[in-house]
Amino acid sequence: MSTAPSAQPAAASRIAIVTGASSGIGAATARQLAGAGYRVVLTARRKDRVEALAEEIRAAGGQATAYPLDVTDRAAVDEFASAFRTIGVLVNNAGGALGADPVASGDPDDWRRMYETNVIGTLNLTQALLPKLEASGDGTVVVVSSTAGHGTYEGGAGYVAAKHGEHVLAETLRLEIVGRPVRVIEIAPGMVKTEEFALTRFSGDAEKAAKVYQGVAEPLTADDVADTITWAVTRPSHVNIDLLVVRPRAQASNTKVHREG
Ligand SMILES: NC(=O)c1ccc[n+]([C@@H]2O[C@H](COP(=O)([O-])OP(=O)(O)OC[C@H]3O[C@@H](n4cnc5c(N)ncnc54)[C@H](OP(=O)(O)O)[C@@H]3O)[C@@H](O)[C@H]2O)c1
Repeated sequence: MSTAPSAQPAAASRIAIVTGASSGIGAATARQLAGAGYRVVLTARRKDRVEALAEEIRAAGGQATAYPLDVTDRAAVDEFASAFRTIGVLVNNAGGALGADPVASGDPDDWRRMYETNVIGTLNLTQALLPKLEASGDGTVVVVSSTAGHGTYEGGAGYVAAKHGEHVLAETLRLEIVGRPVRVIEIAPGMVKTEEFALTRFSGDAEKAAKVYQGVAEPLTADDVADTITWAVTRPSHVNIDLLVVRPRAQASNTKVHREG
């Protein structure tokens, strides 16, 4: 995607922090933001993976550093945030789904962990870094929610509840900080075929994971979503993309998906 000169990040806003950058959408976003001129900081729990990606970005001429971080660990998040004076962009991407059980039999521990990672993780990073985003004079918070944050489906309630929580966090924060130099952008993807999302959801069961995408000609890719994030972030500062819903053409709603065969 081309980036108009007026949309280039200002020097003071050049650091972009991406959570969940060890795979899928987060990794693709880190690559694309680096390509757009940001100095990216990659975080996730798997140190080896974020370090390898940072090295790959540097080898391609970009600026990148890696920092292992569990977004649910508030003390660790605060320590991480203290390393920065100002930052331009925070992409809250770390998260995911656990299980696909009906409400009647879902595991409360799965529900708790999904809330912790998706909602509290986003809250932790946003609270810790908001002063640094504001200090840049031109900050952007991105929340990667989901179409699950905007409608429910059978077997999805735990994830749907957590993603609705992230959506509400984004909407409320935008109201609360209006007038301050920080944008709040929510990106809500539909079906994205990433290597790990469905595998994590089904505890490593590859057969169940493959069924999610079965017969769908072209689910979104991590790069498709990274493209929308990078586009939204690189609009001129006065343009706030409040909410961007992006789905594959084959998916009309959370429950209406065209499958071949
Ligand atoms: N794939 C889809 O269909 C889809 C659709 C809509 C929205 N989304 C959302 O998009 C985001 C990325 O999804 P994806 O498909 O790219 O999934 P993914 O490949 O499974 O990536 C999830 C990322 O989150 C990180 N993560 C998980 N728990 C964490 C924790 N406690 N602390 C720090 N990092 C943590 C993982 O890294 P480590 O394990 O190394 O920590 C990984 O980098 C998620 O928020 C997901 O809910 C996905």
